[in-house]
Amino acid sequence: MKTNKITGLILGVFFFFTGSINLYAAGEDNLDQVMQTMMIITLVFVVGILFLTIVYSEKNDNEGKILLRPLSGFMKWLTKSTPIEKEQEIMFHHDFDGIKELDNKIPPWFNILFYGSIIWSVIYMFVFHIAGDGNIQIAEYQSEIQAASTEREILIKTGAFLNEETVTILTDAPSLSEGKDIYLKNCASCHGNNGEGMVGPNLTDNYWIHGGDIKSIFKTIKYGVPAKGMISWETQLAPKKMQEVSSYIKSLHGTNPANPKAEEGTLYEEPAEGN
Ligand code: HEC
Repeated sequence: MKTNKITGLILGVFFFFTGSINLYAAGEDNLDQVMQTMMIITLVFVVGILFLTIVYSEKNDNEGKILLRPLSGFMKWLTKSTPIEKEQEIMFHHDFDGIKELDNKIPPWFNILFYGSIIWSVIYMFVFHIAGDGNIQIAEYQSEIQAASTEREILIKTGAFLNEETVTILTDAPSLSEGKDIYLKNCASCHGNNGEGMVGPNLTDNYWIHGGDIKSIFKTIKYGVPAKGMISWETQLAPKKMQEVSSYIKSLHGTNPANPKAEEGTLYEEPAEGN
C-alpha cells in the first residue's frame, strides 16, 4: 500500500509537470521547443522505469531483496504478474495443440497509460481547443507563411532569388562601378569599351533586339543568344553580378559614344519612371 502511494505520487508529479508545461506552451510560439522538452522528460521517465525493471530483475536474490524491497513491491504493483509457481492456478482450461493460455490480470502500468492518455486527451482538448482560440491550424499556417516570407525577403536581399522575373535596376555608385568592371572584363571585347557595339550590338542607343528593359537585358545576359554569338553567362556570373552589369548597361543609355554601331532591333521607349 505504501508503494502504491509512492507510485501514485510519482505519476501525479509526472502528469502535473508535463501537463503544466503543456498549459504554459499553449500561449507560446516556441511550441516545437516545448514539445521537445516534453519528449525528453517522457523519455527519461520511460528509460528510468526500464532501468529499474532491469535492476529489479537482476537482483532478485535474497541480498538484493533487502536493498530493493520497496522497488520490488513497486514492480509487483506495476505489473501484477503472477509468480511462475502459481501459474497453474490461473491457467485457462483450454489447449490448442499444446498451446495454453494464462488468465493474467491487465498490468496496472498498461491501465495507467490507457487512462492517462484519456486524461491527457481531455487536458489537450481543453488547452488547445477551449482555453486557446481554437484555430491552431490557421495560426500555424499563418506563422509558417510569415516565416517563409521573411526568409524570402532575406533571399531576395542576398540575391539568391534574383532572376529575370525579380530583377530590379540598381542605381547606386558601388553597384554600377562593379557592373562596369564586369562589363570591361567580359563584354567590352564584343560590345565595345563604351557599349558602342562591335561584333555585338550597340548597347547605348534606343534600339534593342531582345528588349531594353532591365528584365529583358538580364534575361539576354543570363541565357545568351548562342546562335547569334552572344553566349550565356548564367554559369559564369552570379545573379547579383548579372544584375550589376545589366544596371551598368542601362546607365549607358543615351551616352552617345564615338563610332556607334548602327541601330539594330526595334525602338524601345523608356517608361516615364525609368525601368
Ligand atoms: C563573343 C562576343 C560577345 C560577348 C563576349 C558578349 N556579347 Fe552580348 N551580344 C553579342 C552578340 C553577337 C549579340 C547579338 C545577339 C543577336 O543578334 O540576337 C549580343 C547581344 C547582347 C545583348 C542584347 C542586345 C539587344 O539589342 O537586345 C545584351 C544586353 C548583351 N549582349 C550583353 C552582354 C553582356 C553584359 C556581356 C558580358 C557579360 C556580353 N554581352 C558579352 C556578342 C557578345
